[in-house]
Amino acid sequence: MLDTLTITTQRTDAPRLPGINFAQLEFGKTFADHMLVVDYHDGQWQEPHIVPYGNMSVSPANSAIHYGQSIFEGMKAYKSHDGAVALFRPLDNFHRFNASARRMCMPELPEEVFMQGLLQLIRLDSGWVPTDAGSALYIRPFMFATDAMLGVRPSESYRFMIITCPVGLYYVKPLRVRFEETYVRSAEGGAGAAKNAGNYGAAMYPTKLGQQEGYNQLIWTDASEHKYVEESGTMNAIFIIDGRLITPALSSSILDGITRRSVLQLARDWDMPVEERKVSAIEVLEAQRNGTLQEAFGVGTAATIATIAVIGYQGQDYELPTPPADAFSRRATAALAAIRSGEAPDSHGWMVPV
Ligand code: COI
Repeated sequence: MLDTLTITTQRTDAPRLPGINFAQLEFGKTFADHMLVVDYHDGQWQEPHIVPYGNMSVSPANSAIHYGQSIFEGMKAYKSHDGAVALFRPLDNFHRFNASARRMCMPELPEEVFMQGLLQLIRLDSGWVPTDAGSALYIRPFMFATDAMLGVRPSESYRFMIITCPVGLYYVKPLRVRFEETYVRSAEGGAGAAKNAGNYGAAMYPTKLGQQEGYNQLIWTDASEHKYVEESGTMNAIFIIDGRLITPALSSSILDGITRRSVLQLARDWDMPVEERKVSAIEVLEAQRNGTLQEAFGVGTAATIATIAVIGYQGQDYELPTPPADAFSRRATAALAAIRSGEAPDSHGWMVPV
């Protein structure tokens, strides 16, 4: 462990910021000028460095490539109208990152390295935080194994990095989703609650099949019966049925989403009944049929709150009403935006100034 934290900074001599068109950003394709790099070897985290964003070289025997010891986080920084930059619930991401590290047999990161590295990087690249409504600086902390070794065992060396990219809205239009009944994202006891890279890679083929049928995303169901909702694409799933907020309870196969936590907190603040429990596809579709399914949406860092307009199940499409102005998801979207832009009081202490 480091005794005193020193973060060395090498500034870019070719800043790209002046040439960036913030009005035309494709998610995850434009990266800010700098990145944080921290190596782990000999049982210790080494000195962090902030360096110009750029390529790096890895061994072809890199064990993360072969065996998948690779985890990440998604978080965002926002700019208020007076130009101040703040992070949304960064300690929650830090704790989840270390929970993922434990599950994937990787070393935990000291809080100081994560937080100081993050704060210094975002301060340096604060000009990259966009101001338009719905936009933010998306922050991607990640860690991967770096042993050059084909034996199957936990690596002894790792690299932790943070890269950032300015982003606009992730989903522009309400989503068409379909219940997935063949493939699974994760099973009980699997690694679904960890934000490990393999969860996302394994989801791509079933998602592609769904997209070929005209759906944007899948609603994953449980591995044993394909009966209960797990997640929606890369987001947690929430349903408003008869004035109650219903969402699958957390388990070893469901990611403990930070937007999920925040949205549930808003519902509780507004005295709305919140039920974290098993919710079946049949319950959702029955509610659609009898008119009590008021809203369905996904929640996640990248997408924030993504409205679901159509749910497919066994070859049939079930349409949801367009959420009215006072719908819960619209009020929650506005409330989160107001807290993040500094227009509303941050009563839960979610924002951390940069
Ligand atoms: C996030 O919302 O941060 C996610 O993890 C989704 C991402 C894979 C784009």
